[in-house]
Amino acid sequence: MGRIDRLLAAMTLEEKIGQLNMVASSGAVTGPGAPRDVAEGIRAGRIGALLNLWGAGETRAVQRLAVQESRLGVPLLLGLDVIHGHRTIFPAPLAEACLFDPAAWEKTARAAAEEAALDGVAMTFAPMLDVARDPRWGRIVEGPGEDPWVASQIAAAKTRGFQGDDLSAADSLAAAAKHLGAYGAVTAGREYASADLSERTLHEVYLPPFAAAVAAGAAAIMPAFNDIAGVPTTANASLLQGWLRRRLGFDGVLISDYNAIAELIDHGVAGDVAEAAALALGAGVDIDMMGDAYARGLPEALRRGLVGMADIDASVRRVLALKERLGLFDDPFRRGAAGAGASGRRDSERRELARDVARRAIVLLTCARGALPLSPKIRRLALVGPLAAAPREMLGAWAAAGRAEEAVSIRQGLEAALPECRIDCAAGVDIGSGDTRGVAAAVDLCRDADAIVLCLGEAASMSGEAASRADLGLPGGQRALAEAVLDLGKPVVALLSSGRPLALPWLFARADAVLATWFLGVEAGHAVADVMTGKFNPTGKLPVTWPRCVGQAPIFYGQRPTGRPTKAGERYASGYLDLPATPQFFFGHGLSYSRFALDELRCVPGRVKAGESVEISVSVHNDSLAAGEATLFLFVRDLVASLARPILELKGVRRIALAAGARGRATWLLPVEALAFIGPNLEPVLEPGRFEIRVGQSADPAELLTGVVELAP
Ligand code: NOJ
Repeated sequence: MGRIDRLLAAMTLEEKIGQLNMVASSGAVTGPGAPRDVAEGIRAGRIGALLNLWGAGETRAVQRLAVQESRLGVPLLLGLDVIHGHRTIFPAPLAEACLFDPAAWEKTARAAAEEAALDGVAMTFAPMLDVARDPRWGRIVEGPGEDPWVASQIAAAKTRGFQGDDLSAADSLAAAAKHLGAYGAVTAGREYASADLSERTLHEVYLPPFAAAVAAGAAAIMPAFNDIAGVPTTANASLLQGWLRRRLGFDGVLISDYNAIAELIDHGVAGDVAEAAALALGAGVDIDMMGDAYARGLPEALRRGLVGMADIDASVRRVLALKERLGLFDDPFRRGAAGAGASGRRDSERRELARDVARRAIVLLTCARGALPLSPKIRRLALVGPLAAAPREMLGAWAAAGRAEEAVSIRQGLEAALPECRIDCAAGVDIGSGDTRGVAAAVDLCRDADAIVLCLGEAASMSGEAASRADLGLPGGQRALAEAVLDLGKPVVALLSSGRPLALPWLFARADAVLATWFLGVEAGHAVADVMTGKFNPTGKLPVTWPRCVGQAPIFYGQRPTGRPTKAGERYASGYLDLPATPQFFFGHGLSYSRFALDELRCVPGRVKAGESVEISVSVHNDSLAAGEATLFLFVRDLVASLARPILELKGVRRIALAAGARGRATWLLPVEALAFIGPNLEPVLEPGRFEIRVGQSADPAELLTGVVELAP
């Protein structure tokens, strides 16, 4: 008999359920749920997993309780939200998505895993893979943006990075990809709301990143809080058992979101906790995070015959198998042991990585009148706005072990980069309050400046979980401050710290340059200074379409065609009476101090059969005096199909570094199978016919080069 069989045979019902029970270790509570006596629960075998605990000493102490003081000595599974770094905080995921660089995505996950494992953590509730097309939804900041192809690349890179080559290694974390379902599609961007979408959109847009995580070997998956068309994902047997386990063959652990099993009662699909527990277990959810629903509900569900012991055993088996894969039975103290991860990076290397990724995450949205890079002649800079000297905010919404005192503010970054320059700094207003009494003094500070930098945006807590916003403007009195400064008529560069695109057409029209600086992590200030001084030529590209106005949400480039396509000046065409249908900035937008021109798009051969590939290439010319990096997007459009196909579908991205004046070619080998889509019966089909191949620097249709490939019958 193997270890798992032996343990199962020895376990009481209470001990089995204990393996399915994850509770918060401390006061670190992020949802409803009462504090409990954790130590006693571990000793009694009623708790098999903890969240929100880190630190070598702390994790070792609880692990010792489980291993040495519980009857069967089963080690604990210790999980934490290591989302964009552990102690060294990297840019928020939406910001990191702007790199379009799988190697970098993997590297930051690896570095985070090394640090977190050193702190005794064995599982991260990441990567967050929710495609999000509505910037009202606060959690857009935690994820990959709007595109399923990009999200799938991120899924694979992050899973590899967190888990490493060997899950049992002292510096590996189990990845729990989240939040399976269509959390990003919540109605009107309102947090925790219902999502109602077609099976097609679910399978085409929201599920592919999870399939990619499974293919990359993700050890765990977390279903989302919300329901899809009335079925809460935590109880969605057809999605979790049918699609995930049977169709994709996922045999890892399903872990509920925080209290989500107990909340099935509030969803109105369970009459009591026994029914809630039975629904979740029946759907294949193994671990109950913080709900106590399995502990309270499963014994009764068994008595009522709503679940069988075999269902409980199957879940316990999966949890024990994960603990085994993590090497916890062999050495429960491996993570967090002194010297563990010594092979990993040193702090300075992690900081360097954080700076590099942060500057590459910055998106230069607009730049006019040579406002950037800053002229070396500038001697006096006014730095104004509530985000100028706000190190804590730079960390973003998920910064588990991050420390504000280790974060570099924008002010500190610019001061370090411009020692010859006098920098006067004033907040002017708070981030969120409407108090504008400080505006006049801030404006005064700007009068004698050679240039002004406006540091505007959101607090870190204004995006992330439970942080939906109905208004995409600047909070509080920030617009009043910005307009008063802009009225001076001096050169103004605006920096936007935010967890989502903000609809600020007035700012884009008036400021000389605007940079999306998101939440960049510990090296934020240095990264901003690198870009502003021209030490680094910006390369970040938008992973989301940026709206002009909140009324355009949800907004994304992958629209289906309509019988009445958008046409300026035409009344009976798809659009709005009061606003252009186009976004403020297209998906993929991001300026550089270089200028790139594309031509000579080639698709070879022009006619292909199933099983073959097309070589697509384009010539790129750096038509400027600055060396830089271009990013090219490859889209396809199926011109005539049995279903209307999106006008653009992303199939590949290439980045190409070019010296001033240099030319290069970007090439993709596109397998014909990439032209398949989910057909009328929801199964993949490859339909012969003509496909448009479109290549460009963003999803702006006016800028794309077009070729054609024909798929022979
Ligand atoms: C709730 C969030 O939805 C989830 O993303 C997170 O992992 C858990 N809380 C644990 O903190």
